[in-house]
Amino acid sequence: MSQAKLSPEPINDVSRRRFLALLVHGGWAAALGVLVYQIGRFLGAEGLQTGPSPLVSAGNLADFPPETTTYVPEARAWVHHSTEALTSLDAVCPHLGCLVQQKEGGGGFRCPCHGSEFGIEGELERGPAERPLRQLEIQTQPDDTVTIRTA
Ligand code: FES
Repeated sequence: MSQAKLSPEPINDVSRRRFLALLVHGGWAAALGVLVYQIGRFLGAEGLQTGPSPLVSAGNLADFPPETTTYVPEARAWVHHSTEALTSLDAVCPHLGCLVQQKEGGGGFRCPCHGSEFGIEGELERGPAERPLRQLEIQTQPDDTVTIRTA
């Protein structure tokens, strides 16, 4: 009576080969994923960027009493409420991107990094910045919610 000889080696060889192939293919897939992610970041693809949302809720109209200037950190913006209207300025300095601060006494803004100064409406008063602060769209909704469009 002949009995078929069963050898475990061929099965182990196939499993080892298959395991190594999966390892190599998995490594290539991971490297490709990292490459695509880095290219996306380099090109500034939507969804990969971080930062404030373009439409930011700044609170309620009552948070901005008349004749005040208030910083809204979620929007990185200054909101000025004159007797007539709400206006909003980007707090990012157009020189190299520091956040401008309100001057003592509230008569405009000063950049702490290199000393650029801006008027209450964002107009450039002193460099090294070469442009005024960017005006942002601000709206009051029917329920008195204030929103700022940052982009
Ligand atoms: S970053 Fe504001 S003056 Fe340079």
